[in-house]
Amino acid sequence: MRTPAVALLLLVLRLVPGTQGTKASRACGRPRMLNRMVGGENAQEREWPWQVSIQRNGSHFCGGSLITARWVLTAAHCFSNTSEMSLYRVLLGARQLVKPGPHAVYAWVKRVESNPLYQGMASSADVALVELEDAVTFTDYIIPVCLPDPSVVFKAGMNCSVTGWGSPSEQDRLPSPRVLQKLGVPIIDTLKCNWLYSKDTDMNSDFQPQTIKDDMLCAGFAEGKKDACKGDSGGPLVCLVDQSWLQAGVISWGEGCARRNRPGVYIRVTAHHDWIHRIIPDLQFQAADARGGQKRDPPHPLFQHPQGRNLASCLGTHAVLLVLSALLTVL
Ligand SMILES: *[C@@H]1O[C@H](CO)[C@@H](O)[C@H](O)[C@H]1NC(C)=O
Ligand SMILES: *[C@@H]1O[C@H](CO)[C@@H](O)[C@H](O)[C@H]1NC(C)=O
Ligand SMILES: *[C@@H]1O[C@H](CO)[C@@H](O)[C@H](O)[C@H]1NC(C)=O
Repeated sequence: MRTPAVALLLLVLRLVPGTQGTKASRACGRPRMLNRMVGGENAQEREWPWQVSIQRNGSHFCGGSLITARWVLTAAHCFSNTSEMSLYRVLLGARQLVKPGPHAVYAWVKRVESNPLYQGMASSADVALVELEDAVTFTDYIIPVCLPDPSVVFKAGMNCSVTGWGSPSEQDRLPSPRVLQKLGVPIIDTLKCNWLYSKDTDMNSDFQPQTIKDDMLCAGFAEGKKDACKGDSGGPLVCLVDQSWLQAGVISWGEGCARRNRPGVYIRVTAHHDWIHRIIPDLQFQAADARGGQKRDPPHPLFQHPQGRNLASCLGTHAVLLVLSALLTVL
């Protein structure tokens, strides 16, 4: 009786999602090139392959990040004013907006899910998910970013990166050919950020102490000078954790751009884990390394696609198989 039981078990394992290998999947958060993080300069080709441009009638208005073959994460305020969905397109795999080149593709927008808790500019829950009409094919130029599990903590002082095609200052527009910009920004402690935003407060300003809500995260420089700006909204703040890029925040707001004591404010991706999970149940979140992040073993492959074959699921299958066959032997 033992052999058929094992055979049946093998059959069951073959049918379990994640153990079947028909479609090769790719790691999230791992560009096919090494990148340097330097403040406010042109991004390299293939450096931020999850970055997308969200366009209405051919004009860029917000950034976003590819998180699965069908879904883009962005800010809810980008869609506070949606009209006809047929006017909206997402540009993927592009480094520049003007003549994006042969590796770029456009995807039509099927629907937009804004977080129902969002209540307007500079409020909490400024996150939205954009579903694409057709799944995109991953290439070296189009790779999803990893979303962190709530166990991942982005500590103050951590060096992260923000990318976008937004304005290079409050007045100017990015000059043609509008090359994607990258900026290295440290995470700022929320208490400190609230304190900064409370400084030099104009009495007419909407910004009150405790302006930075629990689902927000500050990053940038107290002295100003470097920041995200108009047109960057919805784009990703990403941090390199265990050799993969995890999206810590969604570009949400700031008082002006790069002003003194007014660092950029992002929506914390981990604060909206449950809402994202509800809309995209098969999206896999990246957990913090349980062993403290100090190990130097070959890195875990980090896969987004639940049906993909990968080393982790193969090892997982073998482990399960070993345990179960041990149990069957005992029985
Ligand atoms: C779309 O853009 C074209 C020109 O690029 C313009 O003529 C047209 O009115 C625009 N349509 C909408 C709905 O904004
Ligand atoms: C919202 O839509 C109205 C009318 O279509 C337009 O005049 C206005 O500029 C839009 N606002 C934003 C923020 O896009
Ligand atoms: C971040 O970068 C700065 C400047 O390059 C460096 O001084 C600092 O130690 C870095 N912080 C961390 C946590 O790696």
